[in-house]
Amino acid sequence: MSDVSKRAESIRPFIVMDVVARARELEASGRDIVHLEIGDPDLTTPEVIVKAAEAAMDAGETGYTPSLGLPDLRDAVAYRARDDYGVDIDPGSVIVTQGTSPAMLLLFGSLLDPGDEVIMPDPCYPAYPNYVNFLGGAPVPVRVRAEDGFRYRIDEVERAITPRTKAIMCNSPSNPTGGVLGPDDLAHLARLAEERGIWLASDEIYHGLQFEGRAHSALEFTDRAFVLNGFSKAYAMTGWRLGYMIAPPQFVRPAEKIQQNFFLCASNFVQVAGTAALLRAQDDVARMREVYDERRRYLVPALRSIGLTVATEPLGAFYVFAGATHWGADSVHLASRLLEEAGVAVAPGRDFGPGGEGFLRFSYATSLERLHEGVARLAEWAGAR
Ligand SMILES: Cc1ncc(COP(=O)(O)O)c(C=O)c1O
Repeated sequence: MSDVSKRAESIRPFIVMDVVARARELEASGRDIVHLEIGDPDLTTPEVIVKAAEAAMDAGETGYTPSLGLPDLRDAVAYRARDDYGVDIDPGSVIVTQGTSPAMLLLFGSLLDPGDEVIMPDPCYPAYPNYVNFLGGAPVPVRVRAEDGFRYRIDEVERAITPRTKAIMCNSPSNPTGGVLGPDDLAHLARLAEERGIWLASDEIYHGLQFEGRAHSALEFTDRAFVLNGFSKAYAMTGWRLGYMIAPPQFVRPAEKIQQNFFLCASNFVQVAGTAALLRAQDDVARMREVYDERRRYLVPALRSIGLTVATEPLGAFYVFAGATHWGADSVHLASRLLEEAGVAVAPGRDFGPGGEGFLRFSYATSLERLHEGVARLAEWAGAR
């Protein structure tokens, strides 16, 4: 009998990591693989951010920081909230973390008792249900559909609320769908949260990468919101590990205690770099957004032209979630075939929940040249089927 805990056993692995591992094996044997499977920007961190980190290291800023984060960075988060959304937040409500991922532990760890439910979109970022399960809560998936731009239908969210519901999770722009919630969607969710005395948990990590209109924060619509955000995507800082949560006042101290005990603090000079990112890298974000948008405007019609279905234009992040049932109903099997037979690595939709079955996620965090190559290979594969 295995001594591994049920809690650890119950975590579902990312199937896409199997795709990555197999792609590496094929590459080691000499095959060229086009990587469209991972959400890791190919663009490098802007120079102003790198320089700020270097200067901080040179200045010896290498010790622990307060668990809640450097005051300058927390102030900078408040400054961005005012500048980007017209929202006044107290810098004291900002908790700096080592990425958006640990912020999820702080959020769900300070909010959930065993059996508490969290409503989340299906498909969604797979860490959400895993975190909720790990902490003894119950994820409650609500289907979102391609024809709705993968936005919640508000009556379905309302029907999913029970006396055990603690929060509604939203993620706009979305991984895996690239879908974007409009101000009306967020206003409806905020109203539900307020009427039912529950919380809105808004993962805003892809803000900065929205291609039409501006991204709206949950905090524009209600105080009953937690915001998760991080530097990985818009600032191309995945490997730096920096993020934050903006929490309602009564949750700051509980989250601080979790942070103190489990992580102590985020890296000191990385926080200095994050401050520079928020205050001085907005032009870089705009430049990178242009680059992604050019790729998106190529990729969406290209995928359609080879027979995949993109029902509504993805408007944010760097993903296209394309319907592929007529290439194969089982997305895991299909992704494996595309890798082996066409040399193109993609993420199977099922990785993101049952509602993702029949879809493939294409990441365009890779060069236009490689996107062209990937599409050419897929076109040939589809033609020869
Ligand atoms: C929706 C979403 N939230 C959170 C994360 C995790 O980000 P971080 O690198 O800040 O931990 C990701 C990473 O892919 C993501 O797609």
